[in-house]
Amino acid sequence: MQNNINILAIESSCDDTSAAVIVNGTIKSNIVANQKIHEKYGGVVPELASRAHQQNIVPVVDVALKEAGIAKTNLSAIAVTKGPGLLGSLLVGTMFAKTMALALNIPIIGVHHMQAHVLAHFIEAPKPTFPFICLTVSGGHTQLVLVKTVNNMEILGQTVDDAAGEAFDKIAKLLGLSYPGGPLLDKLAQNGNPRAFKFAEPSVPNLNYSFSGLKTSVLYFLKKQPEGFIEEHLQDLCASVQYTIVKVLMKQLLKATIKHNITNTAIAGGVSANSEFRKVFEKTGNEKGWQTYIPKFEYCTDNAAMIAISAHYQYLAKDFEDYNFIPLARCGI
Ligand code: KG4
Ligand code: ZN
Repeated sequence: MQNNINILAIESSCDDTSAAVIVNGTIKSNIVANQKIHEKYGGVVPELASRAHQQNIVPVVDVALKEAGIAKTNLSAIAVTKGPGLLGSLLVGTMFAKTMALALNIPIIGVHHMQAHVLAHFIEAPKPTFPFICLTVSGGHTQLVLVKTVNNMEILGQTVDDAAGEAFDKIAKLLGLSYPGGPLLDKLAQNGNPRAFKFAEPSVPNLNYSFSGLKTSVLYFLKKQPEGFIEEHLQDLCASVQYTIVKVLMKQLLKATIKHNITNTAIAGGVSANSEFRKVFEKTGNEKGWQTYIPKFEYCTDNAAMIAISAHYQYLAKDFEDYNFIPLARCGI
């Protein structure tokens, strides 16, 4: 009888500490501990994130194993995010994973965070068929990815400055919202008029993106307004900003599908939790005859289930790391 493949996966690239267990390709648990500490600073403070990971990692792993009903001694491998991300945060996850793998004498798997966002689509059916184009949009990245197989991906275009999630968060901060502003802006936008205000729609050559001009255009617009303007027009401002970001995101995706003659399309990453983005993506897909794939909410923002599914494929390919591998703050797909 073939042994089960039981993998414990750990994600600690930014400000969420997460652990998941996957058995033969099926997720059995996915625990995420958010770090509230950053709210009062209006953004992630790297040193505080590392410390919070240190506090959270043992209980999070413990609960993930218990919920899955898997004993440490029955694990086949340990997987961990190897980058990109905040170096201090990555170090906590990788040190923990390396130590545990060494102690249990089992392989360690290093998972690329952005590839994992794409592979979140393979956690549950319906799974995309290859090749497909995935627009991965998070707090640190905005990438159009041509996905040829689970381990063969090519970046077609990406942001030349701010990521879309960063634009959401920074503009939300200008509007007085707390961190992370993306989800709050999304909520407020639901009762606002998306055409109330017009902001810059930065456009860059090829399939790249740019969001810093939009942020600046909102900043200068707000500077010219009288006191109390933001409070009075908050919902319309949020709806107009969201409308612009989604329009810019969709424009390049549309170009990519035409250029590469591909109609299988997916969105991924934290910003794919945005209600307007999900709606517009689905609607455009219907109009253009695309097959569209949107991850479940819990698999959009950072989570260890996406690390676990990636690790499952890497385990099958025997794609293991040395026990002394080092994480990388920046690394390409
Ligand atoms: O993928 P993710 O959890 O972490 C990174 O890898 O960066 O993405 C986090 C980003 C943040 O910028 C957050 O504001 C944004 O995703 N985000 C949203 C929404 N939910 C999360 N942005 C807009 N609307 C949302 N509903
Ligand atoms: Zn992420």
